Amino acid sequence: MSNANHDLYQDDLLETRSPGFTIAQVKDIGDKLFGLTGDLFPLDSERDQNFHIRTEAGDQLVIKIANSAEDPAVIDMQLRALEHIAVVDPELPVPKVLLSRNGLAIEQIQAENGTEHCVRILTYLPGIPPMVDPADHALLRPMGACLARLVLDLRGFFHPIANYKLLWDLKHTSKLRQYLPHIRDANHHELVSYFLDRFDRNVLPLIPKLRAQIVHNDFVPDNILVAEDDPGRIVGIIDFGDMTHTLLINDLATTIAPMLCGHADPVGTAAEIIAGYHEIIPLEDAELGILYDLIAARMIMLNVIASWRVTIHPYNKEYIAGNVEQMWTTLEAWRIQDPADVTRKFFRVCSLWEMEEVNSIPNKANETLKSHLLRRARLLGPCYYLFYKRPVHIVRGEGVWLYDGDGNRYLDAYNNVAHVGHCHPHVVNAISNQARQLNTSSRYMHGHILELAEQITKRMPEPLSVCMFVCTGSEANELAWQMSKLVSGNSGVLITKFSYHGSSAATTQFSTELIPQKKLPSHVQTLFAPTSNTAFRKSDSGISSAITALGEHGHQPAMLILDTAFVSDGIYTSPKGYLKTLFAKTRAAGGLCIADEVQGGFGRLGQHFWGFQFDDVIPDIVTLGKPMGNGHPLAAVVTRPEIAEVLANETGYFNTYGGNPVSCAAGLSVLEVIEKEALQRNALEVGQYMRERLAVLQRDYPVIGEIHGSGLLQGIDIVKPDGALDPEMADCIMNHMRENGVLIGTTGQHYPTLKIRPPIVFQKEHADMLLGALMEALDEL
Ligand SMILES: Cc1ncc(COP(=O)(O)O)c(C=O)c1O
Repeated sequence: MSNANHDLYQDDLLETRSPGFTIAQVKDIGDKLFGLTGDLFPLDSERDQNFHIRTEAGDQLVIKIANSAEDPAVIDMQLRALEHIAVVDPELPVPKVLLSRNGLAIEQIQAENGTEHCVRILTYLPGIPPMVDPADHALLRPMGACLARLVLDLRGFFHPIANYKLLWDLKHTSKLRQYLPHIRDANHHELVSYFLDRFDRNVLPLIPKLRAQIVHNDFVPDNILVAEDDPGRIVGIIDFGDMTHTLLINDLATTIAPMLCGHADPVGTAAEIIAGYHEIIPLEDAELGILYDLIAARMIMLNVIASWRVTIHPYNKEYIAGNVEQMWTTLEAWRIQDPADVTRKFFRVCSLWEMEEVNSIPNKANETLKSHLLRRARLLGPCYYLFYKRPVHIVRGEGVWLYDGDGNRYLDAYNNVAHVGHCHPHVVNAISNQARQLNTSSRYMHGHILELAEQITKRMPEPLSVCMFVCTGSEANELAWQMSKLVSGNSGVLITKFSYHGSSAATTQFSTELIPQKKLPSHVQTLFAPTSNTAFRKSDSGISSAITALGEHGHQPAMLILDTAFVSDGIYTSPKGYLKTLFAKTRAAGGLCIADEVQGGFGRLGQHFWGFQFDDVIPDIVTLGKPMGNGHPLAAVVTRPEIAEVLANETGYFNTYGGNPVSCAAGLSVLEVIEKEALQRNALEVGQYMRERLAVLQRDYPVIGEIHGSGLLQGIDIVKPDGALDPEMADCIMNHMRENGVLIGTTGQHYPTLKIRPPIVFQKEHADMLLGALMEALDEL
């Protein structure tokens, strides 16, 4: 009976009719060979005959009678795999193997027509079949994770029959061509041929290079059971009948394909399963690179084999061809996806999205970059992302220059943190001198904190005379929020349409750059930044309706918080009257007015030291950060004494690192450098120079739309010929400039605006270099 020639595909296995024993015969087999008596209920099977037995002793078992074409060695492999799992991962819910009266795991029986069959008994697992509801995502990640766990459990398992050739193994997808005549519909025929061609081109050459081992190879909803009270908890893995030695990624594609059937978002569904798998077994980029084609291969495999088998087993049509029609629709939906986009999404869900770009550039430096990216993904998790399609690996900075590990130099036109230039010697000395002497918390008296508070408040209008120190802009805004709520007794917040104010729980909710407008909580309402867009031109800022909207949700404004350089909104400064009106309306409604100077402060805007000074206003609270310590974590809240007093009476405030002597030394030295090197004036002059040259470029390059901002904070809109903003082009320009050694960013809603925000030691010759790289990008793109 053994299929001695294992070079043959097991077509006969799929061709041979399922066994046809009667219930009485099976009862007899159970009793004689295994000593079991009880009730029998038939179970579904593709090519075998299975029964559920409820024994008189109360045990629940499954009797499996194999197809006569099934090789006993293959069944032996499946049973030994179950035994192996029971040893290495006893908690994994797989069936246990029962021995016969003769002490054998497999017994052989003969049908009336003389065919021989292997028969075996396994424990019946409790649980229910999963609901395959496309709208329900509960099972997706757990499926990916459970499959990966099963793969790990089988890592050390081997069996001499493991390389037998099973048509259900995706390695053999090309073999499906011989069944194409069974596909009658011309469109379906074309669809299958299209994906077979892709498979031959993209997957076949890689097969010998990818990770392989013995895998389940059919981990799909039909073969798992979930808890009755928790559809996301897998409590049973059954049917090891397609187990074989193949690629890990084939096994994953096999799981994903049927899950996409009838799904409105097949790519998102696949990504969820991939993410669950990747958490347990990190996927390699070559594996992710072919996953789109492998998923398609499995879908066509399901349909081609079903179309063929229906013709030879018409009696089992319902079982064989159950999902075929829906799968054709899913395949068509899969085809219209852009494979590169799908792959990018798969990389992204595994936090490996930058890798694609890196892989396309073969040199030694990229090996280091690649290993960094993999370690980042593993060690830092999926929240972190890097700038540029080909991320930059910086090892040193000096003034406006950054250097990578290969000694390449980049002109830094982006970093506001290194406000007075990277590693400015005066700041570095101040930090290291103080670090050598003492660093401690603000619970002890120290002169630096007072000197810095004096230097900051000296630059603020009266009555902003109290300075409280924190470490980040987010903390500063969080503290401003606490104070505003206490002082006003209100609970609402007013922000601009595309804002960023920090990463703490509260400030994230004030950041429409992070939370889409639709998902903002009702205590946060938005108004227009002073952009030049039509919405703002035609109406006012929208503050009155924002206050009304707050009221409709039971809130009054506690605070209006504005980035005074409107960087996330696209980079603007306040036109005369804008802040004044907003402040007046907010105050009339009982709220406080917060100027977030984390971006615009410390002289960058040239004309004024602080962004709020562009209008005739005095904020209730000013928050500071980023440039304040030139890269050292230092931030602050400046306010009136009576506001700080309300907080003092309520809870007081302590921040271990806020205002420590080393941070204050950094802050003091930054202010000294700005003063000594006249950097505010530099920002004004170089900013004006850049602006004039940009105005000339604007005439020659229609892709340059409006230019806005002030000093060394400039936004350049990139537009299409019809004047619409063009985020894709902006992204291409930014990446092109990066490749030519000039670092800039993009900003604004959907990021259509080039963001120029260099250290403010930036000189005219640097501006020339920047504009040269911009022109080169515009000429070449
Ligand atoms: C305007 C504004 N406010 C607050 C913050 C938060 O600062 P941090 O990242 O130091 O918490 C940022 C950071 O980009 C910012 O741009």
